[in-house]
Amino acid sequence: MRQHQTFNPKLRERTVAVVSAAGLLLLAACGAPTAGAPGGSGATSGEPIPICFSVAQTSNTALLGQDQVVGAKIAEKYFNDKGGVNGRPIKLFYEDTAGDENGAINAFQNCINKDKVVGIVGPTLSQQAFAADKIADAAKVPVLGPSNTAAGIPQIGEYVSRVSAPVAVVAPNAVREALKQNANIKNVAVAFAQNDAFSKSETGTFQKTVTETFKLNLVTVQTFQTTDTDFTTQATNLINSKPELIIISGLAADGGNLVKQLRELGYKGLMIGGNGFNTTQVFPVCQAQCDGLIIAQAYAPGLDSAINKDFIAGYDAEKKSKLPPQLTAQAFTAVQVFVDSLKAIDTKTKLSGMQLADIRTALNQQMLLGGKYDTPLGPISFDKEGEINQGKFYVAQVKMTSGTEGNFNIIGTY
Ligand code: ALA
Repeated sequence: MRQHQTFNPKLRERTVAVVSAAGLLLLAACGAPTAGAPGGSGATSGEPIPICFSVAQTSNTALLGQDQVVGAKIAEKYFNDKGGVNGRPIKLFYEDTAGDENGAINAFQNCINKDKVVGIVGPTLSQQAFAADKIADAAKVPVLGPSNTAAGIPQIGEYVSRVSAPVAVVAPNAVREALKQNANIKNVAVAFAQNDAFSKSETGTFQKTVTETFKLNLVTVQTFQTTDTDFTTQATNLINSKPELIIISGLAADGGNLVKQLRELGYKGLMIGGNGFNTTQVFPVCQAQCDGLIIAQAYAPGLDSAINKDFIAGYDAEKKSKLPPQLTAQAFTAVQVFVDSLKAIDTKTKLSGMQLADIRTALNQQMLLGGKYDTPLGPISFDKEGEINQGKFYVAQVKMTSGTEGNFNIIGTY
């Protein structure tokens, strides 16, 4: 991995590693000598390196979290088969955040204090990240957001980064693609989940794109809750505003139901769903009515790279499909960033001789040093605050293939 040493205000406070003489060598290697070649294929041995994968495995948010767990499991097997961290295996601790802030806080506390991990991938929602990430930040445990796309996530603290590009970068492309399909769009209606931080952030971006970038009319803004199931009022108001395009920022269960109910009430125009729709689990929710939904993407299965092909092969082995969804690719990527960073640290200073606290700090520093990671999302790096730098984005349109199954077909690259 290439590293550029640049001045980094986020790192300034922690460039002096403090080694606690009293601390335990929690990651000390044991067992037979390592068999895996650094960065190559091979068996692993020794004490596994603990990493938390803490997303929603229960609640409605698990519609998103299930895709993420698939990506993490593929990554855990893939990187361990390739020799782990210079011969040491990784072990993922799956701590369920469920769908709310308290669930995320409890899960993160387990990661930090019980599992004693070197870093945390999670949580699923930005709403949860704003509550839980500060706990990890205070404990100096690096957090890598796999799906948090609201504005302001990396700014939560110096130990917070993300592989999920923010709404401001990704969402406007969906509007561009809708305008390509219907150049006569003048009136746009918007709906968003007002109790969800990501949905509020994303609708702000969409509304700005509509009114400022494309000078279109914003004819109504409707609100709902992520817990809602009946959208008759919002759907009726949206349709009555006579839009040629409706843009929805919500999560898979609520947003998917709104899409379904809009079609059932007779709306025939274009629809954009935000990043909360970015899971195959939305298909059973809106079913045939998902068809045609436009959704911006930070991942395209067609990316021509060795790591993406390996990732797709892993997905195919698990799910019998060569079209992994975005959240699965981002989850794999997050685990990869930790593994690649740990390898780079271990190559300089053996992890087995370091204190856990120092590994956590070194891991966070390593990500922010400007190194490039060749991932299924393409080449990525992090800026000084932990924001992802990613080169390419996409827009997909849903094509339903049967009652509850479908694909995100890429229709635009940006
Ligand atoms: N992108 C969604 C969020 O940030 C899942 O909450």
